[in-house]
Amino acid sequence: MKTLIAYGSKHGAAKKCAQMLKQKIAGEVEIVDLKQTKDCNLKQYDQVIVGGSIYAGMIQKEVTAFCTQNLEILGQKKLGLFICCMSENDADKQLEKVFPPELLKTAIIKKSCGGAFDFKQMNVMEKMIIKMVSKAQAKNDPNTKPVNTKESVSMLNIENINAIAEAMRGY
Ligand SMILES: Cc1cc2nc3c(=O)[nH]c(=O)nc-3n(C[C@H](O)[C@H](O)[C@H](O)COP(=O)(O)O)c2cc1C
Repeated sequence: MKTLIAYGSKHGAAKKCAQMLKQKIAGEVEIVDLKQTKDCNLKQYDQVIVGGSIYAGMIQKEVTAFCTQNLEILGQKKLGLFICCMSENDADKQLEKVFPPELLKTAIIKKSCGGAFDFKQMNVMEKMIIKMVSKAQAKNDPNTKPVNTKESVSMLNIENINAIAEAMRGY
């Protein structure tokens, strides 16, 4: 059983998920960063996992291009889809928005794997956006606190990563 994990990531959370999935799936597993590799010979894989992270409601353009360019062959594979994002409440909605409907229909598993804020890697603009959004959220919801951009946070959803690995066991 040969598995491809193709991902897009800006600050590393989706990359980390891809690496964790690789550790948990049996057989031959290859990881491809879609920002670096455009052409993968999909014929050689029995199953494929495609993932990326969400920025302003969108997934990396390389992930979208990979899905649309390989729509037919991906539709014939055992397929898993994942996103990384920080808004738990509407994670499923965001996932349904960023992948083509054809693949959402055929995928055997679709999950949000949580996300991370790595402030050391973010530029000033990104930090400003996170501050503004989290301040607004804290105003509306007294149970939440504005994010402190001096402390990076990781909220990867191990349960969902395990669920993907289990569904795509590889044997
Ligand atoms: C500028 C910016 C915009 C973001 N927009 C969203 C968003 O629309 N929805 C969401 O749930 N998370 C959003 N996030 C959180 C990211 O999806 C999260 O940090 C993710 O783990 C990043 O993955 P990466 O490290 O693979 O790039 C945003 C983060 C930044 C910095």
